[in-house]
Amino acid sequence: MTEDARALTGRRIVVGVSGSIAAYKALILVRELTSAGAVVDVAMTPAATAFVTPLSFAALTHRPVVTDVLGLDPDSQIAHVELAEAADAIVVAPATANLLAELAAGLVDDAVSAIVCASRARVVIAPAMDAGMWTHPATQRNVETLRGFGYLVLEPEVGSLASGLTGIGRLAEPATIVAAVERLFARSGDLEGLRVVITAGGTREPIDPVRFIGNRSSGKMGVAMAEAARDRGAAVTLIGGTMSVTPPRGVTLTEATTAAAMRESVIRAAPAHDILIMAAAVADFAPARPSGRKIKRDASGLDLRLVPNPDIIAEVGEMPADIRPFLVGFAAESDDLEANATGKLRDKGLDLIVANQVGGPFDAIGSDDNTVTVFGVEGALTDWPMLPKRQIAERLWDLIADRYRRDDPAPTRGRKAATRAPRR
Ligand SMILES: Cc1cc2nc3c(=O)[nH]c(=O)nc-3n(C[C@H](O)[C@H](O)[C@H](O)COP(=O)(O)O)c2cc1C
Repeated sequence: MTEDARALTGRRIVVGVSGSIAAYKALILVRELTSAGAVVDVAMTPAATAFVTPLSFAALTHRPVVTDVLGLDPDSQIAHVELAEAADAIVVAPATANLLAELAAGLVDDAVSAIVCASRARVVIAPAMDAGMWTHPATQRNVETLRGFGYLVLEPEVGSLASGLTGIGRLAEPATIVAAVERLFARSGDLEGLRVVITAGGTREPIDPVRFIGNRSSGKMGVAMAEAARDRGAAVTLIGGTMSVTPPRGVTLTEATTAAAMRESVIRAAPAHDILIMAAAVADFAPARPSGRKIKRDASGLDLRLVPNPDIIAEVGEMPADIRPFLVGFAAESDDLEANATGKLRDKGLDLIVANQVGGPFDAIGSDDNTVTVFGVEGALTDWPMLPKRQIAERLWDLIADRYRRDDPAPTRGRKAATRAPRR
């Protein structure tokens, strides 16, 4: 058995089946996933049950099949929520044009879309449809949206279609889908044993009890880093500022909405972690004297003096070597990206810095995609295209894990780890 194939042993996988003529191939998929050692649950849209019976899936999996978004399991648990939480991965195969649209729009009116929407597990989607439907701009836009969510959307294959025509739209072969799921898990343990702390989101610096100075950071990049690290086996602490995205499950969350609170949390957490990723947009300045009472409107205006906030990452950079984690900073620069990023890397004693341009025609802040360059002391290390943030996170972890292991080989790390606070 290959290492990839072993990756499925004991994994909880939900297969979501929708109303395509290719639904019968989901039976083969389920059989292959089960043979590879996965525990498979099947959910079906009502339309899917017109093509294949739930009984066929139940016979293959020896487990009940969820067909009703309003259903409860025998213990009165909401069936789709139970499955959404238990799943290590969700494979939607075949995915109809209609289901792609529902998933992209966040519509939840069947068991499959409900499970995908409620879950934070990894999602693989294998579309199947007529070539005209697949190439329609609406479908292509939906696919891009789903990829932006971090879902792996497999390309359909070219061949003869149910319509009698030949073209693109055939469901990927079950073996291709299984291989994609195996690859997902094969790399999933490579951060096991590492404790990582990640900051995400923006900060709010109070002016008075109701007003603040903030920034537009959404937290998406930091959260993508946290999800990827969690999925690859790391123990993750997320220090979250103000975020427009839901923090992932399965990580230890600390809330820190001001720069001062973030500093306190980071300084406390840093010695107990192997790697610190500072992805949060921490305010550089805060009002010198925030008012305890709401400031009244005044026709003469308001002078606000700002004072610099502590430079958190520089402080961690100065920690003694035995407690200082491997340090990765983020830099959003509007000018001289390389000079500013590498200057920051040197001045603050960072191991790596992830730089992205802001203020141009493309705005990375709040976007689902980004284009970044990673710099080390020797200069630029990457030349990546624009990618969804989750894919950037995966690539960053490949690079960070590689550097971390090279710079801090196992014997030192083992000794450091042994003296650290226990995993929380
Ligand atoms: C015989 C037949 C085959 C179909 N095959 C497909 C297909 O392969 N892909 C697709 O997107 N829709 C296909 N449809 C249309 C879907 O079944 C229809 O859009 C349905 O509403 C999908 O519901 P669901 O996405 O909730 O499963 C087919 C319909 C029929 C009658």
